Amino acid sequence: MTETQSPKQRSIVVIGGGIMGAGIAIAMANAGHRVSVVEPDQARAAALRERLQEIPKAAVGQIGADWAPIAEADYVFEAAPENLQLKQQLWARLGEVARADAVLATNTSSLDVDDLAWVVPEPGRVLAAHWFNPAYEVQCVELAPGSQTAVDTIQAVTELLSAAGKTPVSVQNRPGFIANRIQFAMIREAMLCLEDGASREAIDEVVRTSFAPRLAALGPLANADLGGLDTYLSIFETLQGVFGERFAPPQSLVDAVAAGRLGTKTLAGFDDYDEDSAAALAAERDRRLSAVIAAVR
Ligand SMILES: NC(=O)c1ccc[n+]([C@@H]2O[C@H](COP(=O)([O-])OP(=O)(O)OC[C@H]3O[C@@H](n4cnc5c(N)ncnc54)[C@H](O)[C@@H]3O)[C@@H](O)[C@H]2O)c1
Repeated sequence: MTETQSPKQRSIVVIGGGIMGAGIAIAMANAGHRVSVVEPDQARAAALRERLQEIPKAAVGQIGADWAPIAEADYVFEAAPENLQLKQQLWARLGEVARADAVLATNTSSLDVDDLAWVVPEPGRVLAAHWFNPAYEVQCVELAPGSQTAVDTIQAVTELLSAAGKTPVSVQNRPGFIANRIQFAMIREAMLCLEDGASREAIDEVVRTSFAPRLAALGPLANADLGGLDTYLSIFETLQGVFGERFAPPQSLVDAVAAGRLGTKTLAGFDDYDEDSAAALAAERDRRLSAVIAAVR
C-alpha cells in the first residue's frame, strides 16, 4: 500500500479492458480503490479512462498497454479473451511481474483455474473470480479455488468484494461453475421452444413475467420446497415421457419424495423447517416478489 492510499483502498489492476474488464474496473473504482487497467487497444483504453475519471470516488491509475502498475498491485483481475494459450502466456508474465503476495484472479468462464495457476510461482494466491455482465451492477461473483488455492486467498477476495457491495459466493472449480450450468440449461430450453414453434416474444414474455422474478426473490431450491416436491416430480416425469432423458428427475428429488420430504408442506424438503420458518419463507418470497415486480414493471 502506498502512503497516499486510505487504509481500505487497494491497488487493483484489471488485465483486459473489454466488456468484462471495463465492468470490473468500474465496480472497483465505485468502491474507491485505485484502479489501473492493462488494455492494449488504445481506443478502448482511452474510452475506459474517460469513463473511470467520471466516477467521483475513483483513483484512476494507468489505463493502457503498460504493465508497470501490476508490480504494485494488491489484487489482479484478469479478463483477457477466453483463449487458453493467450491466457497462459499472459499468466506466465503475470507471475514474473506481480508481487509475491498479490492475489491473482481469473474471470474465465470455462477454463480450469489450475491450467493458469501452474504457470505462476506461488499458486496458492490464484483463484477464479467469475463476474457477470455488467460487472458494476450484477451482485454475484463466483469464487472458485484451484487445487492449490489458499483459504486466505478466497477470504481476502471475499472481504474485498463484500466491502464493494458485491455478493461473493464460493463455488467448486467445475466447468460453468453454478450460474452458467443453470443459466445455459434454461437458455437451451428457450431455444428449443423456439424451434418447436413458440414465438420469440412469447418465450421472452413468459420467462420475464413468471419464474424470473420469483427466482430473484428466492433461489430454485427454496422455490421448489415452497412449490411441493411431489408436484415437481410429477412434472418431471410427464416432461420426460414427452421430451426424453433431458427431463429425467434428478435422484435427489426422487429420494426426497420417497422419504416423504415434500417441501414446506411436510416441514422438510431440500431444507428443514418448523411451522414458523415455513411460513416465514413464504412471506419472504411474497414480500420480495412484489418488490421485484414493482421495480421492473
Ligand atoms: N462477456 C461475458 O458476459 C463474460 C462473463 C463472465 C466472464 N467472461 C470472461 O471474461 C473474459 C473476458 O471476456 P470479455 O467478454 O470481456 O471479452 P472482450 O473481448 O470484450 O475483452 C477482452 C479484452 O482483452 C484485451 N486483450 C487482448 N489481448 C490482451 C492481452 N494480451 N493483455 C491484456 N488485454 C488483452 C482486448 O483488447 C479486449 O479489450 C473471458 O475470459 C470471458 O470468458 C465473459
